[in-house]
Amino acid sequence: MSSQHPKVKPQTAIFSKGYDPQRSEGAATPPVFRTSTFIFKTAAEGKRAFEIAYGLDTLKQGESPALIYTRVNNPNSEILEDKITGWDGAEAAAVFSSGMGAISSACLAFLKPGDTLVFSDPVYGGTQYLFRHLLPAFSIRTKHFPAGASKEEMEAMVRDDPSVKVIYMESPANPTMLVSDLIAAREIADKYSDETRKILVMMDNTFMGPIFSTPIQQGADLVLYSATKFFGGHSDLVAGIVMGRKELMGQVKVMRTILGSNSDPDTAWLIHRSLGTLQIRMEKQQENALKIVEFLRKHPKIERVAYPGLPEMGERQVEIWKRQFTGTGSIISFLVKGGEAEAFRVLDAVQHMKLAVSLGGIETLIEHPGTMTHSDMTAAEKLQAGITENMIRVSVGLEDPEDLMADLAQALAKA
Ligand SMILES: Cc1ncc(COP(=O)(O)O)c(C=O)c1O
Repeated sequence: MSSQHPKVKPQTAIFSKGYDPQRSEGAATPPVFRTSTFIFKTAAEGKRAFEIAYGLDTLKQGESPALIYTRVNNPNSEILEDKITGWDGAEAAAVFSSGMGAISSACLAFLKPGDTLVFSDPVYGGTQYLFRHLLPAFSIRTKHFPAGASKEEMEAMVRDDPSVKVIYMESPANPTMLVSDLIAAREIADKYSDETRKILVMMDNTFMGPIFSTPIQQGADLVLYSATKFFGGHSDLVAGIVMGRKELMGQVKVMRTILGSNSDPDTAWLIHRSLGTLQIRMEKQQENALKIVEFLRKHPKIERVAYPGLPEMGERQVEIWKRQFTGTGSIISFLVKGGEAEAFRVLDAVQHMKLAVSLGGIETLIEHPGTMTHSDMTAAEKLQAGITENMIRVSVGLEDPEDLMADLAQALAKA
């Protein structure tokens, strides 16, 4: 479909791209292919399928190898993978059993002992655990720069260190909402890459993508998602996605096969069902969030609101945001005047907002990053990253925004 009509917008392409109803009895929407294995027509067909899946040979133009085994590939994953490349024009995508499955598999595909990964700080709690504890346990070194750092600061981490192989960014950062300079990271990666080392730029685009941010078009090599969030959108599944160039994605998929981090057909089917409403959900959630941001900014019990594009985020933050994003999203962090006790009083008092981690679903979720999603960080690490005891993170859903503001107003009255 997309090749016949290259100009159609992603919101149109997703309804046809990647799925041929005639291969499924004309079913308007793909059936769930709940099978562990696939029957080859001939031994030669099986041999060829393995050559491709294990990266022993590359796909020929127009070739469509047989499916093998659901840990390797499955029609539901593949239909989804084809469709989701539509937003930012990635050549290929891979679906995972979770966002962490996607992130860990992508890192392990390109890093070996002695290599270094440089990351923007903070990142999601699970990701920072991987970077601060698990990768170093396998002799992969990690070091970080503050989210939103200048090009000079980032370059200083790469310039004299030939072991740097990956620049990893999460932008906006969970939970401080600071955006990072992807374009500068690309320039640095190009400047210090040569025949002996290729520095990859990886971007966790969970908070804004794929609707308000398309990092592949701005130079990221790999874009990663917790598909548990906006892609799934209904807090009823856990999944991850990696996208990028074909040659890199081949390596990512081999790692997925061997680590066993592929998604299952039912989950892939559910995400597929959510795609048609992804844009409208993200836009409406953003519209609701903007109202709540304005309400919070004026509230006497609020010390500061952290949300992309706000002048109080600082001039450089606004400048990066303008260059790299087309929206502000629906995740808001805010600091209540006081400390943990005041923040907890708000969290315990909300009635419509649900006290739960995760984000990006159609219902509003509220949490305390310092003691929940980012609890594993030390006090010093949290301080350095700006994760304070009075910080609350909200993922705004599709409830009536007036009701959400009234809910926050009565909860803040108890702070
Ligand atoms: C920005 C970000 N990346 C990755 C993850 C991990 O995703 P998952 O929980 O699907 O493994 C999360 C989870 O909250 C996240 O917020």
